[in-house]
Amino acid sequence: MEVKIGLLGCGTVGSGVIELVQKRQDMISRLTGLQPKITHVLVRDPQKPRQVSFIDEQLTTNADDILEDSEIRMVIETIGGIEPARSYILRALQAGKHVITANKDLIAEHGTEILETAEHAGVDVYYEAAVGGAIPLIRPLKESLTANEITDLKGIINGTTNYILSKMTETGADFADVLKEAQELGYAESNPASDVDGLDAGRKLAILASIAFHAKVTLDDVEVTGIRTITAADVAYAHELGAVIKLVAEGTDRDGNLTLQVRPTLVVKDHPLAHVSDAFNALYVRGDAAGDLMFFGRGAGSLPTASAIVGDMIEVLRNLRMDTALRVRQLLLPHKRVRRGQGEPARYYVRLAVNDQPGVFAQIAAIFGQAEVSMETVLQKRSRQNSAEIVIVTHEVGQEQVTKALNALSAVNDVQTIHNVMPVIGGAQ
Ligand SMILES: NC(=O)c1ccc[n+]([C@@H]2O[C@H](COP(=O)([O-])OP(=O)(O)OC[C@H]3O[C@@H](n4cnc5c(N)ncnc54)[C@H](OP(=O)(O)O)[C@@H]3O)[C@@H](O)[C@H]2O)c1
Repeated sequence: MEVKIGLLGCGTVGSGVIELVQKRQDMISRLTGLQPKITHVLVRDPQKPRQVSFIDEQLTTNADDILEDSEIRMVIETIGGIEPARSYILRALQAGKHVITANKDLIAEHGTEILETAEHAGVDVYYEAAVGGAIPLIRPLKESLTANEITDLKGIINGTTNYILSKMTETGADFADVLKEAQELGYAESNPASDVDGLDAGRKLAILASIAFHAKVTLDDVEVTGIRTITAADVAYAHELGAVIKLVAEGTDRDGNLTLQVRPTLVVKDHPLAHVSDAFNALYVRGDAAGDLMFFGRGAGSLPTASAIVGDMIEVLRNLRMDTALRVRQLLLPHKRVRRGQGEPARYYVRLAVNDQPGVFAQIAAIFGQAEVSMETVLQKRSRQNSAEIVIVTHEVGQEQVTKALNALSAVNDVQTIHNVMPVIGGAQ
């Protein structure tokens, strides 16, 4: 039996979906006993050259052709952004259509509304592609690992910043130059704020944490620091310390108290996350029964993302075959306490510029001592006339103590600037 599908959007991801469905048509029919058929594809500009071939009748600029067609059982949303994607998805659900989306912005901001609408209508919403591209994360967290209490999530979940930081490490170039090159090559958006300011990773962490920690988590709960302040000097110091800089998303659940942070982090080269380069993503998960797990793979791209979407599509077809829906319910998530500025104890990298005078380092050491922050490594270099640069790596310490020391440092006249502060992971503890 044929199952009619409407596809919203035919850009990078949508065209990958068409290609993969065409390629795997026979296999999908064999696996599910149903034949998926994309009958309509919604675009903005029908004259635009496309990467895939399809019959012209499929293309439409009118969403009603999909949303009001009662024969269409499933809608795949690859438009992106909040509106009109949100309205289209809500209308599809209200019309009894199952929905698959790759839209992390929408799930992170309006996930509850969308899931509630689906529940009410008795249909499913799948969004495996919204986090980690090809890497299966949502379903393992929601299904395979359900027997666990998950306590820790830690990973690299934004390809653009990982590409920029990898290139800065390889070439020694500064952030602005690498960003410009990444934009020219299409690896970064013309407006890169969502990626480089850490918001995209924050939204993805909110989605993962909601599922893993069974809690209502939104971007507002996540403390986010982007990578704009990372300079070639930080990258060079990281190298001297045997580390690379990565944008790391971290969530912990300690007896119902959550900490959720996205921060540039020094990752010592013996840590597996140090080797996750370019557009790759990786996520560590710790479950009380499963122990440590690591997921790794391509976090974006046409076919990698389509792989996740078509996997969801096959799941919906299986459900349709069994005449079932809402097997895995995701509602009624409670709010949990979110602790800010209280990340897990870690070593910290602190780079500061100070007046190049005798006694300044002694003042800094005294302040660290008063805050009970002990130093593991100190690098000191003269940078300019009357200015010295000091890089300190602390022993493992609570985030609150580091903040206390930094607040005290910023009041010292001889401290010119605190350039950067980052946690350090990996290395001998
Ligand atoms: N790109 C990736 O690697 C990747 C990875 C994971 C998740 N995602 C998510 O997947 C979604 C799609 O990303 P993408 O990279 O494929 O975007 P894209 O290349 O910009 O494609 C967007 C498509 O949506 C259509 N569209 C946009 N606004 C529309 C509107 N108002 N009405 C009708 N059609 C509209 C566009 O039509 P025209 O072609 O006519 O302009 C285009 O075909 C986003 O939510 C993104 O976050 C992307």
